[in-house]
Amino acid sequence: MKNTLIAPSVLAADFGNLQRDLEMINNSNADWFHVDIMDGVFVPNISFGMPVLETIQKHAKKTIDVHLMIVDPDRYIKTFASLGANVLSVHYEACTHLHRTLQAIKAEGMKTGVALNPHTSVTVLEDIINDIDVVCIMSVNPGFGGQSFIESTYKKVRQLKEIISRNKAETLIEVDGGVTDKNAKQLVEAGADVLVAGNFVFKSANPTETIADLKKTASL
Ligand code: DX5
Ligand code: ZN
Repeated sequence: MKNTLIAPSVLAADFGNLQRDLEMINNSNADWFHVDIMDGVFVPNISFGMPVLETIQKHAKKTIDVHLMIVDPDRYIKTFASLGANVLSVHYEACTHLHRTLQAIKAEGMKTGVALNPHTSVTVLEDIINDIDVVCIMSVNPGFGGQSFIESTYKKVRQLKEIISRNKAETLIEVDGGVTDKNAKQLVEAGADVLVAGNFVFKSANPTETIADLKKTASL
């Protein structure tokens, strides 16, 4: 059976009860903490920054997966390493020298991640796939939680899976945005390894159960 990883997005947590929500993730079947950093320039929204990440680092007992939606991410690679990021994803669209950026992430001991906007073809990663630990396919336009899933994502996941196999890479495919129990199975069938879920988890009546159910639905 495939062990699909579930990564609840902290963006959808209750920041007045952040420690409670982080402990909920610790004690659930979730695998990663997904942490969205938005700068108000690369995306039309500002999320949170270093002080919140310090709190996450203090309490999180699982992999911290940081998704940078910021311009010029190279400036902050060392900072995010010191704040406990285990996976650091930069946007393809924000990096002029992606290869250099990925080497800098590796040099800080983190796993490398590359996120792709909905309009960016997965084929742009063909020549660099062996340097990427996680490709984060955006299934919404980045910037906000709670948006609807873009259906053409399935095709991108299948295409990326083919590129990964052809290059004998070990890259994980993560899907981020609008993930629910309605699309989880089909995403995993297409080749997804990690599912991010924000609103679907935190706006549900019982987030712990929702995570367990999603994990079950997604582990084929
Ligand atoms: C969007 C973020 C996502 C978001 C997912 O810019 O990158 O990680 O928090 O939230 P939902 O699952 O609510 O779409
Ligand atoms: Zn994200």
